Amino acid sequence: MKDSRANQDDLHVAIIMDGNGRWAQKRGKPRLFGHHAGARRVSEVLESCPGLGVKYLTIFAFSTENWKRTQAEVAGLMSLFRRYIEKEAHRLAGKGVRVRFIGDRVRLDQKLVQLMDDLEVLTENNDLLHLTIALNYGSRDEVARATRRLAEDVAAGRLAPQDVDEETLPRYLDTCLLPDPDLVIRTSGEARISNFLLWQSAYAEYEFIDTLWPDFTAEEFMRVVARYHQRERRFGAVPG
Ligand code: IPE
Ligand code: IPE
Ligand code: MG
Repeated sequence: MKDSRANQDDLHVAIIMDGNGRWAQKRGKPRLFGHHAGARRVSEVLESCPGLGVKYLTIFAFSTENWKRTQAEVAGLMSLFRRYIEKEAHRLAGKGVRVRFIGDRVRLDQKLVQLMDDLEVLTENNDLLHLTIALNYGSRDEVARATRRLAEDVAAGRLAPQDVDEETLPRYLDTCLLPDPDLVIRTSGEARISNFLLWQSAYAEYEFIDTLWPDFTAEEFMRVVARYHQRERRFGAVPG
């Protein structure tokens, strides 16, 4: 089982980067100012991963529910994503980061999707750190899309209904190439998971911390990961 990996050097940490809007509001600035500050934080956390034994970092950048925001905020975020990829692509590639995107690309604009595809190809041979960016991602949407493809395989005779089990189903998820998260962190004080990695986090450890994402430092990340190592994971068994 993926969940019981004994090796603590290939941790998968997933982060719900929340609180950009409030961070900006506290400074009397527009929400997008907070999103830009938040984007700058990503590099710092990313760079500290290899030293902390974190091999997989998955970050929630935009949810399937975030389209409910004003058109201006959504457009500003999409333009930020484009600029972020353009600016960071070669640095990420040079640092040994393999980048993948999860989420539904259908609703994203073509220019952005092209940049995402190019970055995946550019970094496909890297293995130091696996960065997964959840963009237009929602777990329910992911499960629905996965189920649709699974049903197509059953209808076409490629998969027998009796072979659908806990191992088969996740192969249809966007995260099929990733281990399950060991630790899920949410910043900004909200204690909810907002449709993030529902299936995958069935046995993850959670940390809800008060810091707003643009204030989240590598030091704090290090403390949170250290706390994770103090926890006892049981996976339903009797502690030994
Ligand atoms: C998280 O910050 C970033 C995205 C959801 C894109 P928010 O924009 O949700 O910030 P708050 O929660 O309003 O402070
Ligand atoms: C979750 O944050 C999504 C991202 C961080 C991208 P939200 O701010 O959208 O979540 P809710 O609305 O507070 O649940
Ligand atoms: Mg929020």
